[in-house]
Amino acid sequence: MNHVVTLTGVTKKYGELTALDDVSLGFPRGRFTAVMGPSGSGKSTLIQCAAALDTPTSGSVAIGGVDVGTLNETKRTELRRAHIGFVFQSYNLLPAITVEENLTLTLRLAGRKPDLAWIRMLVERVGLHDRLRHRPGELSGGQQQRAAIVRALAGRPDVLFADEPTGALDLRSASQVLDLLRSMVDDLGQTVVMVTHDPAAAARAHDALIMADGRLVDVLPAPSAEDLAARLTRLAGRPVAAAGGAL
Ligand SMILES: Nc1ncnc2c1ncn2[C@@H]1O[C@H](COP(=O)(O)OP(=O)(O)OP(=O)(O)O)[C@@H](O)[C@H]1O
Ligand SMILES: [Mg+2]
Repeated sequence: MNHVVTLTGVTKKYGELTALDDVSLGFPRGRFTAVMGPSGSGKSTLIQCAAALDTPTSGSVAIGGVDVGTLNETKRTELRRAHIGFVFQSYNLLPAITVEENLTLTLRLAGRKPDLAWIRMLVERVGLHDRLRHRPGELSGGQQQRAAIVRALAGRPDVLFADEPTGALDLRSASQVLDLLRSMVDDLGQTVVMVTHDPAAAARAHDALIMADGRLVDVLPAPSAEDLAARLTRLAGRPVAAAGGAL
């Protein structure tokens, strides 16, 4: 299978704590992958390593066939800018400039000429054409997240990573964002990897990866929200491996 990003034996430690434990997987091109698992299971660490925003302690990450570990900081940033889009739960739009300026800022900082026809098409798709001259603070949370998605897609990345993109949104806005991500995959062949705690959101993906204690413990193809909820409940009921202190 054609993978946009491949992780091989990736381990990430923070001191004594192992956030990722020998994870090997690939994100298939043109598919929508959800990542689920209990809080602290390593989901954010996984996608940050996969997006070259973070560096594994051991193991390797290949983006577009290039081993990220062989690159210096500058080359790694270039590779990330060329291939990766990233969306956070908290939008991270710059408050002092307009939505329109936010959409092209990353590209301009990278010295790339924004493809305005492409960005205009995305803006139309997400229904933000009449909000471009506003500042981010004048938009609803759902509108800000849709703007953040357009910004992340503005440079036509091979893969869009989203870390709980609907985590701060009400049901209706969350549903609009999920529709948008799904349509990017179906209509434009975009590869999307989304971390979520919501089984109904993950059920919109082609496949769901289940993380527990820093390991990939399951892959559910065409998951239903019910299957995912049941799988997560079983995980929540498992004995906790790590020994804690008195608290
Ligand atoms: N910068 C850091 N320094 C120290 N420990 C960290 C750091 N980042 C993450 N961790 C730890 O690594 C583990 C995995 O964290 P991670 O953020 O990947 O979990 P997660 O699955 O995304 O959780 P959540 O669902 O709560 O967002 C956790 O135990 C966390 O405390
Ligand atoms: Mg997280």
